[in-house]
Amino acid sequence: MPEQFPQTRMRRLRKQSFTRKLMAESQLSVSDLIYPMFVLEGENQKELVPSMPGVERLSIDLLVKEAQELAALGIPAIAIFPVTPAEAKSLCASEAFNPQGLAQRAVRALKAEVPELGVMTDVALDPFTSHGQDGLIDDQGYVLNDETIEVLIKQALSHAEAGADIVAPSDMMDGRIGAIRQALESNGYINTCIMAYSAKYASAYYGPFRDAVGSAGNIKGGDKKSYQMDPSNSDEALREIALDIKEGADMVMVKPGMPYLDIVRRCKDEFKVPTFAYQVSGEYAMHKAAFANGWLNEEQVILESLLAFKRAGANGILTYFAKQAAYLLK
Ligand code: PBG
Repeated sequence: MPEQFPQTRMRRLRKQSFTRKLMAESQLSVSDLIYPMFVLEGENQKELVPSMPGVERLSIDLLVKEAQELAALGIPAIAIFPVTPAEAKSLCASEAFNPQGLAQRAVRALKAEVPELGVMTDVALDPFTSHGQDGLIDDQGYVLNDETIEVLIKQALSHAEAGADIVAPSDMMDGRIGAIRQALESNGYINTCIMAYSAKYASAYYGPFRDAVGSAGNIKGGDKKSYQMDPSNSDEALREIALDIKEGADMVMVKPGMPYLDIVRRCKDEFKVPTFAYQVSGEYAMHKAAFANGWLNEEQVILESLLAFKRAGANGILTYFAKQAAYLLK
C-alpha cells in the first residue's frame, strides 16, 4: 500500500456505466450524419464500387427507395454525386448545368418522393470535364478560375431550380462562394443554403471516390494541387474559411476528415460557425479493408471514428458509414 493515497482518483467516475454516461463530453447521434451517394443513369441499375466495399452506385429509382429508408432512420440529409457517362463529358462541361442532367433529375425525384430528407449537391466540374479537372483548362492544362466560376454559377442555379436544399461548391476556385451567393439571391433562391468545401486539401485519400464517379482515369498523371490546399498548411485553411464566410457560406467544411481534425478544431474555435467534416472515400476504404481482414472491430471503430469528429468540434459529418452508423445508434 502506498504511503500517500491519490488526492484525485480519475478512475472513480470511469467505474460504472452511469457515471461514464454523465461524464461524456461529446455525443454522436444520427442527426449528425450526411450520407454521400452515387447516382447512375438507367432504371433498376445498381453497381458495386470495388474500392469502396458496401457502397453502390444507384439509378434514380433505386436511389429514391434507399432515400426513404435513410429518412426513416433519421438521417437528416444526403449528398449526391452523379456518374456521368463518358459521352456527356466535354471540355466546356456543359452537362454540369443541363436542367435534365442526372443530378438535376435525381434532386427532383428525391424532393418529390422524400421531401423531408435534405438534399445536397456537389458544385464542381470534374464529373463533366473530359480531363477530370474541377474546372475549365487552358492550353497548358491550367485550371482557369474566373471562366470556371461562370459555369459553376449556372450549375448551382440548375441545382437550386431542381430543388436542392444545399449546394456545396467543392471546386476551390477563388471567389466562387460570393459569385454563387449573388446569383442565387438575384434569381430568387434566397433560402438555398451553401455548404462551402472551404478547406479542401489536395489529398491522396480521394482515390476511391474518383473510381466511383469515373473521373480517376481522366486525371491520369495530373493532380489538383493548383487549386486544392497543400496538406502542410493550417493557417491557410483559416484564411480560406474566413473568405467563404464573408462571401456568404452558411456552413463550412473541412476535407478530408480524420487526418485533418486539427483544422476542424481550429475552425470551430476561431469562427464558431456551423462546421462540417468529410470522412472521405479513402478513409472509408482503409477502415473497410481492416474490417474485412478482422484487424479492427467494425462496429466499435465506426462509432469511435465518427465520435472523434464531434470531439474536434464538427456539427456534422459526411460519411459513407452514415447508414451503418444510423443502425448502430438505434
Ligand atoms: C469533386 C469531389 C471530390 C470529392 C468530393 N467532391 C474528389 C476530388 O476533389 O477529386 C471527394 C470525396 C471522397 O473522396 O469521398 N469535386
